[in-house]
Amino acid sequence: MGSPLIVTIDGPAGVGKSTMAKLLARHLSIPYLDTGAMFRSVAWKLGQGSWEWDEARLKEALDGIEYSLSGVGGDSVLSLNGVPIGDEIRTEEVGMWASNVATLPVVRTFLKKAQQDLGARFSLVAEGRDMGTVIFPGAPHKFFLDASVDERAARRFHQLRAMGRPASLAELREQIARRDHQDRNRAVAPLKPADDAVVIDTTEMDKDRVFAALKDGVA
Ligand code: DC
Repeated sequence: MGSPLIVTIDGPAGVGKSTMAKLLARHLSIPYLDTGAMFRSVAWKLGQGSWEWDEARLKEALDGIEYSLSGVGGDSVLSLNGVPIGDEIRTEEVGMWASNVATLPVVRTFLKKAQQDLGARFSLVAEGRDMGTVIFPGAPHKFFLDASVDERAARRFHQLRAMGRPASLAELREQIARRDHQDRNRAVAPLKPADDAVVIDTTEMDKDRVFAALKDGVA
């Protein structure tokens, strides 16, 4: 058996990384790894304000966390200590908590190891902010998806409405812009395309066209 195939998809909040990662992983018959869910689940498990704890306390809490992955494509299941991570982490509020814990080197070091361990065992479509730059710099296929803040807020607005969770477009726009700013400007592993990533501006593209571009890229 050869070494696992890693495809990376990075980009800002709300750009559609998860949708594309699931489709591409299904196409390749491999799991997808949602690393945002790892940061979200750490923030959720440690709780509000944990980003202000001292390092020893954070380390101790992180020592009690283990991730596992099963399934393929959109059916991939990421579990924390054996329990599948559910929709409780999918709020804008927990997204902001995740962005806060994601500024901490101790959290990033812990998740880097967890992500690289999974990548050593499984072929993956890995999506997040620093997959192509820091976690899997040697990946043979790297993508960076981008779109304007207005477009990403509008997509999120429609997604939430379809789920029966109406939200304020202006508020969503503000939350996304705030999280982007923090993710792009943090000292450790900031959001940016790897030098060798294919950058796709999806602002004016529908899902089919973005997926076609990704498929072409890995062919
Ligand atoms: O992709 P997402 O919106 O679920 O990610 C939530 C937050 O986690 C995001 O605002 C920043 C952080 N994150 C990160 O710093 N690095 C990653 N690889 C993935 C997510």
